[in-house]
Amino acid sequence: MPGESPFRADFNGLARAEPGLPVTWYSDPDHHAREMRAIFGHGWIAFCRVSDIAPASWRAGPAGPANIVAVRRADGTLAAFHNVCRHRGAEICPHGAGRLDRPLMVCPYHQWAYDLTGRLIATGPARSVEGFVRAEHGLIPAGVAEWGGFVFVNPAGGGQSGFEAAASRDLAPIANWPLAALEVAHREEIEVACNWKIFWENFNECLHCPGIHPALCDLVPIYGRGIMVREDDPDWRARPDAPDPRLAGTLRAGAETWAVGGKAQGAALPGLTAEDVARGHTFGVALPSLYVVGHVDYARAVRVTPLGPVRTRLTAEWLLPPGRAAEPGFDLGRIVAFARQVMAEDAAACEMNQRGLSAAPFAQGTLMQEEYEIHAFHRWVRERLAETDG
Ligand code: FES
Ligand SMILES: [Fe+2]
Repeated sequence: MPGESPFRADFNGLARAEPGLPVTWYSDPDHHAREMRAIFGHGWIAFCRVSDIAPASWRAGPAGPANIVAVRRADGTLAAFHNVCRHRGAEICPHGAGRLDRPLMVCPYHQWAYDLTGRLIATGPARSVEGFVRAEHGLIPAGVAEWGGFVFVNPAGGGQSGFEAAASRDLAPIANWPLAALEVAHREEIEVACNWKIFWENFNECLHCPGIHPALCDLVPIYGRGIMVREDDPDWRARPDAPDPRLAGTLRAGAETWAVGGKAQGAALPGLTAEDVARGHTFGVALPSLYVVGHVDYARAVRVTPLGPVRTRLTAEWLLPPGRAAEPGFDLGRIVAFARQVMAEDAAACEMNQRGLSAAPFAQGTLMQEEYEIHAFHRWVRERLAETDG
């Protein structure tokens, strides 16, 4: 019924079939540019790990439509700016990272120099000229915040409190994991030939799991039923405490973590509750650019960077206690290989979805009962577009 909630009250699920987003939104360059401006250009984007920027160093790269440079001053404080010189707009720092010999950022084109608060200090060989007010030509600031050992930037500006108001709710489920104290034991990047929204849609449902992820369904039996958690089952209230992993959503008997063989290695991470451990996996999300999944012995973060309408870079980081991966007998390969396979299976599915959508002879796909999280994501996309791009 129009006006009624599309979501079920008695279990997780859609009350009726819902249309997807317009298929043109998955490949049209103009619409993609609109999403980059409205969603990524006004959002908190996971940029790197805090440990990726040492004191007196910088890191530059894309954040949605923006080109951002984050710098750490000698006193440890972070700042972020649009990586664009106020003279004639050259990129100041090449994408990547580097150290600062002096507390200055100097444009390589004509040597305009900025201090680490973004103030323009010198204009290189250009002489001052009538009508030029140096104070009006500082770097454009971007928002910067830290959470869980990640640096987030917001091209539209803002600080830590703005980040917490915007992003902390969906990260709350993973709050018990000591993410800030973990180090990147392994990092991999893949590029997937799909729109960024296809990545998140695939992330938000498990109808594909039985057909796409045989090893994952063996480890997490409820995924083999095409659902993600206990409350997705229409009958779950009849047996809310059933211990069977196919009903409870926990790992198969004897398994402790997402790894080849299912065995955890080393001590459990500090701070986890018995429920956190029993669940086997806990997801936190910071749309549009990050999810983190926590396990008893490690966490894995995946950052999502759109490179074009049908190209998306994924950066996966395996986070472990410092030094853990080098301990005798620790097999990092068992946890890396497991997630690498799942990610490769998902990437192939996303590319298959994109190839079809790019040629779709209809206007919108259809969401079924189990795809309630995709419907919520679509609402989020539409709201961000309406809010920030009229
Ligand atoms: S564009 Fe940077 S100094 Fe000229
Ligand atoms: Fe998947």
